[in-house]
Amino acid sequence: MSTDTSVADRVAEAAEGRSEMFDLMSRHDHEQVVFTYDPSSGYKGIIAIHNTALGPALGGTRFWKYDSDYDALIDVLRLARGMTYKAAVAGLNLGGGKAVIIGDNRTQQREMVMRAHGRAVESLGGRYYTAEDVGTSVADMDYIHMETEHVVGMAGKSGDPSPVTAYGTYRGIKACSLKKFGTDDLAGRSVVIQGAGHVGYFLAEDLRAEGAKVFVADIDGERVQRCVDELECEAVGTDEVYDVDADVFAPCALGAILNDDTIPRLKVEIVAGAANNQLAKARHAGMLEERDILYAPDYVINAGGLINVYSELAGWTLERSKRKAGEIYSTLLAIFDLAAAEGITSAEAADEVAMRRVQAVTQLHRTYV
Ligand SMILES: NC(=O)c1ccc[n+]([C@@H]2O[C@H](COP(=O)([O-])OP(=O)(O)OC[C@H]3O[C@@H](n4cnc5c(N)ncnc54)[C@H](O)[C@@H]3O)[C@@H](O)[C@H]2O)c1
Repeated sequence: MSTDTSVADRVAEAAEGRSEMFDLMSRHDHEQVVFTYDPSSGYKGIIAIHNTALGPALGGTRFWKYDSDYDALIDVLRLARGMTYKAAVAGLNLGGGKAVIIGDNRTQQREMVMRAHGRAVESLGGRYYTAEDVGTSVADMDYIHMETEHVVGMAGKSGDPSPVTAYGTYRGIKACSLKKFGTDDLAGRSVVIQGAGHVGYFLAEDLRAEGAKVFVADIDGERVQRCVDELECEAVGTDEVYDVDADVFAPCALGAILNDDTIPRLKVEIVAGAANNQLAKARHAGMLEERDILYAPDYVINAGGLINVYSELAGWTLERSKRKAGEIYSTLLAIFDLAAAEGITSAEAADEVAMRRVQAVTQLHRTYV
């Protein structure tokens, strides 16, 4: 998304006095930002609610040692906005929000920090639901739950989201194949998966079941070996992963791996994988386009994880969640059509589809009941 702020931009903004709090909220289109401090536990949290036109804001809690409070604020504003887009494009009745806890996530004060956070979440009365994110775990959600019902992704509830995320990604790869090759049959197609972790493994399983050839790379050799032994995948090196001659590159590990160095190396026709924030910069979507590589916007194709936690609120079965994740297929095709019609990148088209839904729901005709 185009909300990234470089250090140079920030210095310029500060010099012009533009980084005042409400200016920042306005620039990032936010409804509400809540700062909470608890002196007894040392908890310092920011909850950002970007947009609740579609429903309560939902987004994970990130626990991170930020260089400054300003960095934490920018991160939470950017992440919350991303959640609005993700929920909107996935067709869920959820708004976008996110929380950050500033500090060392190895703290010994874990219960008290999480409970303080739970109280901050509770104070919003259901406008914001939290979940796991970088630096927080399922056990942390249990602590948060001691203080609020507005938390999802706890043990014994919707469970590991990875199979649903992988299934949505698999359906997304099929849609890309239809767009690029005129058929969504993946038998005989080749897919390179970067990251054989939770999502990567299940994705490899779905692809192999359809007869695709699958290459896997991971820094963890055991995870690669499992895919080789159980699914007859082919192992490739973690650097070599960008040079494999294949139909699809599926990033399922790290962010920012589509950049100036890697894009020129790719020998694939499609990039479609579950990793978050795959593009190092927004302009890299254009770079892929110039190379005629079809890009499935990450937050569209990996929405299965969000769909899975939403199932907890909506009371959906796993089958229903998978069916919803399967709709990523038609959503991506609509995005590719819009991109072609408007001469924009697929990443820009995804943002447009998301905002159109938010605006349409906002403008729904009100009737008196
Ligand atoms: N789990 C979900 O449901 C879900 C939902 C949406 C998005 N995502 C995103 O998908 C990605 C994968 O998630 P996950 O749950 O499978 O995580 P995971 O930690 O289980 O798996 C990631 C794998 O990537 C490997 N890895 C790390 N650095 C690597 C490198 N340089 N080269 C190759 N492999 C490397 C790790 O060893 C690990 O096996 C993440 O970006 C995550 O944010 C996951």
